[in-house]
Amino acid sequence: MPLKIKDLISIKDLDRDELRLILDTAESFKEVGARDIKKVPTLRGKTVVNLFFEPSTRTRTSFELAAKRLSADLVNLAVNSSSVAKGETLLDTARNIEAMQADLMVVRHPCAGAPALLAKHMTSGIINAGDGAHEHPTQALLDLFTIRERKKTLEGLTVVIVGDILHSRVARSAIHALKMIGSTVRVVGPPTMIPREIMHWGVEVFYQYEMALKGADVIMILRLQLERQGRSLFPTIREYANLYGLTVRRLAMAKDDVLVMHPGPINRGVEISPEVADGLSSAILSQATNGVAVRMAVLYLLSGVIKNESVDPQRPAH
Ligand code: CP
Repeated sequence: MPLKIKDLISIKDLDRDELRLILDTAESFKEVGARDIKKVPTLRGKTVVNLFFEPSTRTRTSFELAAKRLSADLVNLAVNSSSVAKGETLLDTARNIEAMQADLMVVRHPCAGAPALLAKHMTSGIINAGDGAHEHPTQALLDLFTIRERKKTLEGLTVVIVGDILHSRVARSAIHALKMIGSTVRVVGPPTMIPREIMHWGVEVFYQYEMALKGADVIMILRLQLERQGRSLFPTIREYANLYGLTVRRLAMAKDDVLVMHPGPINRGVEISPEVADGLSSAILSQATNGVAVRMAVLYLLSGVIKNESVDPQRPAH
């Protein structure tokens, strides 16, 4: 069953079956990363271009590895040394890349809506790799993949999302995805970092961390989005760490088998203590591993090759 979409801009673009299809496809691709030769020929002849207008370690690298493991050609546009620096618009830049027969473009941009604008004007598929404070759909997909892998289910879990909800594209995508799949979502953070429209999101809102942690199956910690905060939303970083940092003491208030997640990059000693980040409950590096498999699945399912019934995503490299 192919996806009904050309682009992946928002988790809202997917229905429940499509979300599960991506997770199941990623499960079949994960094994490729454990092989000596980490390559299948599935997307041979396809071209993927990474267009990152904001810094990234995990997302850009994992899309690059995903494309290469599927045998696609991958180009990273170096935005700072491209003609964007001479004033070329985003749309003109993308149109010129499309004219070079790019099949898929992976776009990260500080402005919410930038990937949606490109999707409207391009025939190439556009994948949102994070746009402003709007969405980061592949992060939500890899988070769900990691939870399902560890907990063996997604239904009926209590997931606590902690921190700067207001500026977090990760939180928005995760909440849509978790609600779609049947998890209970709690959010907790300083009142200044909880959006006013939160009452329409179908989540439980807490301001006291300890209360939110009771009975938690998963804790998803957010990075403070200082680059998106126009003004100071709390007195000091130390105060934030005291109230909303996940420490060993706080971790003990959740379930014994609680899973600790963070999309990265982590601020050690601020939103998470080093002991928790590196501890047995942490799935942070598994998230990075799973990001490659999930992005392989997204590239594969959006590439159009699935129309060809003979394509087997598991076929080994020749
Ligand atoms: N999680 C995430 O988006 O990390 P990067 O900013 O390093 O891509």
